[in-house]
Amino acid sequence: MDKPKVVLGVSGGIAAYKACELLRRLTESGHDVRVVPTASALHFVGAATWSALSGKPVSTEVWDDVHEVPHVRIGQQADLVVVAPATADTLAKAAHGLADDLLTNTLLTARCPVVFAPAMHTEMWEHPATQENVATLRRRGAIVIEPAVGRLTGVDTGKGRLPEPAEIFEACRRVLARGVTETDLKGRHIVVSAGGTREPLDPVRFLGNRSSGKQGYALARTAAARGARVTLIAANTGMPDPAGVDVVQVGTAVQLREAVLKAAADADAVVMAAAVADFRPATYAAGKIKKKDGQDPEPIVLVRNPDILAEISTDRARPGQVIVGFAAETDDVLANGRRKLERKGCDLLVVNEVGERKTFGSEENEAVVLGADGSETPVPYGPKEALAETVWDLVARRLGAHV
Ligand code: CTP
Repeated sequence: MDKPKVVLGVSGGIAAYKACELLRRLTESGHDVRVVPTASALHFVGAATWSALSGKPVSTEVWDDVHEVPHVRIGQQADLVVVAPATADTLAKAAHGLADDLLTNTLLTARCPVVFAPAMHTEMWEHPATQENVATLRRRGAIVIEPAVGRLTGVDTGKGRLPEPAEIFEACRRVLARGVTETDLKGRHIVVSAGGTREPLDPVRFLGNRSSGKQGYALARTAAARGARVTLIAANTGMPDPAGVDVVQVGTAVQLREAVLKAAADADAVVMAAAVADFRPATYAAGKIKKKDGQDPEPIVLVRNPDILAEISTDRARPGQVIVGFAAETDDVLANGRRKLERKGCDLLVVNEVGERKTFGSEENEAVVLGADGSETPVPYGPKEALAETVWDLVARRLGAHV
């Protein structure tokens, strides 16, 4: 099979250096990438870098290799165009159909999906001119990823930062696999919990678990891509925020419960992908627990944590709210899963078998999604995104049935 052809447009912002990592991720995962920088982009990262990393010639203008008609061919042949970073100027040109260099010509001739990853100062992003240009591009079917909030060039911080290259890469991979037309979660508020809670014993120690948070992040990212407003409640994941998602950081099960209850109040669906500690130490030592010569350590006494999934399932914040739980099992997986689904009272339970290569920390997952209606949806071994998409298919069906 031919490699998918990706055009990486780079416009003139300091975040151009991050596009090098995006380029690497794209080429290493089997994409044929042609980089089309603007002349301004080359002030930040030179043509030699783009050419060496992509293994292809690089030009900014339509006057090189004219016999190959590059201003038309590059766009026509692409399976995906991604512009990262997309400056206010490039967004404006794209929205108005200007074509004064190779990138803007390519944007006019491309008939494939187009993804823009904007990066600029907050004032420029919030300016009505930029906002209207973004709205125009989205109305025409382009994907404009929301910029991240954080450190900008110089001393400023705010909205306008380029999302992490890994996030832009995931957005590209998803568009290539599934197209751009899915908006079945548009207008919905979705809450996802992710990661593993930590229950402190003293200021330096805690009881924790091995959940990486990757499955929850994949759920948040894909829900946002399907048009939802997403609140991600993240417990100790240490991962960059997925683009366009509101992230609430928590530490313990009690903090997670508080954040979930608050966000669930107006949510259409809640997915509990977090590994919540069932127990916490009964006491917290304000000072570090010291070992004492010749003495056995004090036993650690545990108390139960609230069961958040059971609580939100029994006491639904809204009629028709869809609630999804996760269960990691080692033996008798389906029978245990069925019992857990009934005990917790949720609508769907994603049951994973825990074992080597599977579940904790890996990029891949395999599961069966059990429904309270008796349904059973197997999801073969594959990327965590694929499992996430199946969960949203099932959630969207249930939400659709309710309206
Ligand atoms: N969960 C929760 N609150 C807890 C514990 C778990 O909301 N205090 C949620 C998890 O987010 C997950 C699901 O419940 O969606 C399954 O958790 P699990 O720990 O497997 O369930 P338990 O009832 O604790 O079952 P087990 O007997 O296997 O420990």
